[in-house]
Amino acid sequence: MKQKWKVGILAATGTVGQRFVQLLENHPWFEVAELAASDRSAGKPYLQACQWKISGHVPEYVRNMKVKDCAPNLECDLVFSGLPSSMAGEVETTFAKAGYAVLSNSKNHRMDEDVPLLVPEINPEHLALLEIQQKNQNYQSGGYIITNPNCSTMALVLALAPLEAAFGIEKVNVVTMQALSGAGYPGVASLDIIDNVIPYIADEEEKIETEPRKILGKLKDGKVVFADFKISAQCHRVNVLDGHLEAVSIALKRRPSQEQFLDALKTYRSLPQQLELPSAPRFPVVHVEGADRPQPRFDREMENGMATVVGRVRPCSLFDFKLDLLGHNTIRGAAGAAILNAELLVTQQLLKTRSY
Ligand SMILES: NC(=O)c1ccc[n+]([C@@H]2O[C@H](COP(=O)([O-])OP(=O)(O)OC[C@H]3O[C@@H](n4cnc5c(N)ncnc54)[C@H](OP(=O)(O)O)[C@@H]3O)[C@@H](O)[C@H]2O)c1
Repeated sequence: MKQKWKVGILAATGTVGQRFVQLLENHPWFEVAELAASDRSAGKPYLQACQWKISGHVPEYVRNMKVKDCAPNLECDLVFSGLPSSMAGEVETTFAKAGYAVLSNSKNHRMDEDVPLLVPEINPEHLALLEIQQKNQNYQSGGYIITNPNCSTMALVLALAPLEAAFGIEKVNVVTMQALSGAGYPGVASLDIIDNVIPYIADEEEKIETEPRKILGKLKDGKVVFADFKISAQCHRVNVLDGHLEAVSIALKRRPSQEQFLDALKTYRSLPQQLELPSAPRFPVVHVEGADRPQPRFDREMENGMATVVGRVRPCSLFDFKLDLLGHNTIRGAAGAAILNAELLVTQQLLKTRSY
């Protein structure tokens, strides 16, 4: 393999940006060459610009790097974006036009017809959309946008994928309990969330009800035909730092025994595991025993935060089965997902070295 790919991080000072900085330290294939954020941060060394809010120290390698503007003059081959949705759409398009591979965490381009909403375990064949996107959008050679799902969708869809493949999904009901870091920084005011649960997260239910159907959709004549099941979601913000917990009920087209249902989840492996991608979890779905698991505090770090942790699988009196699942929202639900996507791009020879 060539020397390391040079990568940039857009919104490197934010909650997702900090996780990129942490996860990319010592990455075997990628080297962080550029950090960018708002005018507030541009021109400052990272240590001064960033209010580091995740555990551990600010990695040595970024401390003195100068933060730049989010303009397409960064000296790197691809950019990871943790930009707020208020400007991500436009800025990411500008970078793709300038020939950068853009790996986005924002909602803006997820539902664009020619943009893959990529989960390497589930829909690597959706990468065929890139050629169509480059033609449609007239992006320079090498430039394109790939998105990863909303953080709650990500945890849910990893568990749905093996069930859809084995039994066919008819419908899903999901109630989420989402961590505070999912709202970014400063996020939800302490006086709103201490001693409280907020039964509303803007736009979240719509994302969870549509994104899994695109991710599990099949590519036909250059378009994604959405999976045909329905999802109902109800979202809650809870007083937890990291890790989204979801209570899920599932009706299936072919009803398995509980043992077969659990077996489909536990034995799930896919392309990232076969390719041994550096950030791939060994097990994309981990089953935890115990009547009161999974719990965010105890289970969110499993498989380095890259797996969906399921537990409490049992029959459902309305649907077929119900379970609880947990995903780390800033790792597999954001930065870790985008890094895994980029690793897949390397193995599929879909990254190009830019000249700078
Ligand atoms: N948090 C999660 O768990 C999570 C999960 C999945 C997806 N996402 C998505 O990821 C994105 C970022 O979320 P977050 O939680 O990291 O937000 P955040 O903590 O509020 O961070 C916002 C970041 O955006 C930068 N920014 C703000 N205005 C900008 C501008 N005009 N130009 C360039 N950069 C600007 C900030 O830079 P300064 O420091 O310079 O102001 C900061 O780096 C959002 O689209 C969110 O929906 C978040």
